[in-house]
Amino acid sequence: MKLFALFGNPIEHSKSHIIHKLFAKQIGIEQKYIKIKVSTNSFSTSIINFFKNGGLGANITVPFKREAYQICDLLTNRAKFSGVVNTMKILNDHKILGDNTDGIGLLQDLQNLKYITSKSNILLLGAGGAAQGIIYPLIKFGCKITIVNRTYQNAKNIIQHFKKNKNINCLKIENLSKYPYNKTYYDIIINATSSSMKGDIINIPISVINSNIFCYDLFYNNNNTPFLKWCISQGVKNISDGIGMLIEQAAYSFYLWHDIMPDTKKVLMNIKKIN
Ligand SMILES: NC(=O)c1ccc[n+]([C@@H]2O[C@H](COP(=O)([O-])OP(=O)(O)OC[C@H]3O[C@@H](n4cnc5c(N)ncnc54)[C@H](OP(=O)(O)O)[C@@H]3O)[C@@H](O)[C@H]2O)c1
Repeated sequence: MKLFALFGNPIEHSKSHIIHKLFAKQIGIEQKYIKIKVSTNSFSTSIINFFKNGGLGANITVPFKREAYQICDLLTNRAKFSGVVNTMKILNDHKILGDNTDGIGLLQDLQNLKYITSKSNILLLGAGGAAQGIIYPLIKFGCKITIVNRTYQNAKNIIQHFKKNKNINCLKIENLSKYPYNKTYYDIIINATSSSMKGDIINIPISVINSNIFCYDLFYNNNNTPFLKWCISQGVKNISDGIGMLIEQAAYSFYLWHDIMPDTKKVLMNIKKIN
C-alpha cells in the first residue's frame, strides 16, 4: 500500500491523518498516512530512512520545515521563494522534491472565508517555519505584511530572505502601539506563532484591534484557541482558526503526490461534524 507520513514534534494534536484518509476515500486511492514523531536531531535520518523504506511522500510540521528545505534535491517555486518546505515527494530517480503548500492553503482558506482582498494590510505574528511559508503567496496576491515576533532578530531574518520585496516589513512589538500602526491600520491579524499550541496568549497591544478587523489563528482546536478567545474579549467579531488552512494545504500536498485535487469543502464539513 502507498505510504505517506507526517513528521514533526509535537504531532499528537494533528488531524492531517484524518484529512488524508477522507481525501483518499473520496478519490478512491488506497494509501496509508501515519504520524511520525521525531526528536530534534533525528529529523534528517528519519525522513531519509522513510523514503529508503518505501515512503512516497511526507508532510513536515513544527519545527522541521527549514531543515526539510535543506534536505530536498529539487524545489517547487513556492518552496524556493519561501525557503521552507512542508511537503516532500520521492521522484522516480529517487530525488526528493520539496514544496510549500502552507501559503497557498492559507490564501485559499482566506478567500473561501471572504476576508482577504489584494489590498489587505496584514499583521503577521510569528517568524517560524509557518510564518515564513505563508508570506510568498500573500504578497504575490498583493497584500502588505508587517511581521512582529517575540524574538525580533528572527523577524529580521525573514525580511532578509525576502529582501527585494517592498510589501513586507517588520516591527518591534512595542512599536505596534504607536502611530500609525494602532487603531485601523491592519485589516487582518494572523497568529502564526505556536503560542496557542502551548496554551499561551501572545502579547500584543490592544490598540491594534478594531471592530472591523479579522483575526486568524493558524493553530486549531475543538474550541476557540487562546489567541482567538483573547481577540473576542477585545471586541473582535470576525475570527477563524486554521482548520480550513489545514485542509486546503493538505489538498495541495495530495495533488503533488497523486496529481488529482480533492474536494476540500466536503472534507471540511466532515471534519466539523467529527468535532
Ligand atoms: N493550520 C495549518 O495548516 C498550519 C500549518 C502550519 C503551522 N500551523 C501552526 O502554526 C504554528 C507555528 O508553527 P511553526 O512551524 O512556525 O513553528 P516554529 O517554526 O517552531 O515557530 C514558532 C514561532 O512561534 C513563536 N512563539 C512560540 N511560543 C511563543 C509564545 N509563547 N509567545 C509568542 N511567540 C511564541 C516563536 O517565536 P521566537 O522566534 O521568539 O521563538 C516563533 O516565531 C503552530 O501552532 C502550528 O500548529 C498550522
